[in-house]
Amino acid sequence: MCYDGSGEWPVAAETTPGTPGRRAFNRLLLAGTGLAALSACTPEGSGLTPSAPASMSLTSAGNTTTASAGPGATPSAEPVPGSPAATTPASIPLAPAPSAAAPAARHSLTDPASPWVVVNKHRPLSPADFVPADLVQPRVRLATSGEAALLNSTTAGAAETMFAAAAAGGVVLTLASGYRSFNTQVATYNSWVNTEGQAAADTASARPGYSEHQTGWSFDIGDGSGRDSFTPAFANQPAAVWAKANAHLFGFVVRYPWMFHGITGYYYEPWHLRFVGVEAAADMNARGIATLEEYFGLEAAPGYL
Ligand code: DAL
Ligand code: ZN
Repeated sequence: MCYDGSGEWPVAAETTPGTPGRRAFNRLLLAGTGLAALSACTPEGSGLTPSAPASMSLTSAGNTTTASAGPGATPSAEPVPGSPAATTPASIPLAPAPSAAAPAARHSLTDPASPWVVVNKHRPLSPADFVPADLVQPRVRLATSGEAALLNSTTAGAAETMFAAAAAGGVVLTLASGYRSFNTQVATYNSWVNTEGQAAADTASARPGYSEHQTGWSFDIGDGSGRDSFTPAFANQPAAVWAKANAHLFGFVVRYPWMFHGITGYYYEPWHLRFVGVEAAADMNARGIATLEEYFGLEAAPGYL
């Protein structure tokens, strides 16, 4: 049984004319691109700070990798949101070597069907038109419909367990935006470009073929009320607070953490969760490693190559 999530998106109450991101929000809804188009924001003073990152290097052999200790990246002092410093790799110093080696790489970092695939501005999906073979609708409270209510089967199962655990703790999580096809991302990204311009769009919305949402491993959460959805303030809502503290127990990471946009390429998205499996997510949490790029020893990807 799935909830329809009615009432999750009281658009008139949620949107503030004159706020660029929220103008885009309205326009995207009107354009029919759905909630999937809204996974974007700019960081503001949430008071949240990144955990101390560490990193590893890896060697590649075909689609498999082996992780080992090595240099990585950590963000520099807080840049002004939207400033060039926010996306300049040269401003990112190297982090010290991690205290422990990564687990032996058992999953591909490049196969979009792998739970460890790393998709960012340097690492497009291959093939670009990848479609997960096992898309299903999870039995969770939905705040969206159609393809956006789908996830790959592994992520769907983990989401069901996590949403139920949150509910048991009195916290409502809703699935606000899951899978996006390549064509949906075309519409989403183009809407952002048309509304905000390409530079701003690139800090918030992935170009077609570069979105984790296309893998089925990622989804955006809401809290059932629509309050602060897809805005920086969502970080302070119970759903986001709970997810930040507990998602790793279910195999998820907050993929675009606060102040790591110099590595991930995107501003803080407290709503965007990514399944990587319990082992990796718990290990990242325990070691204070904030990004997949650092965890797997990959280069920072603040901008497109
Ligand atoms: N908002 C994330 C980066 C996406 O568009 O996939
Ligand atoms: Zn997202």
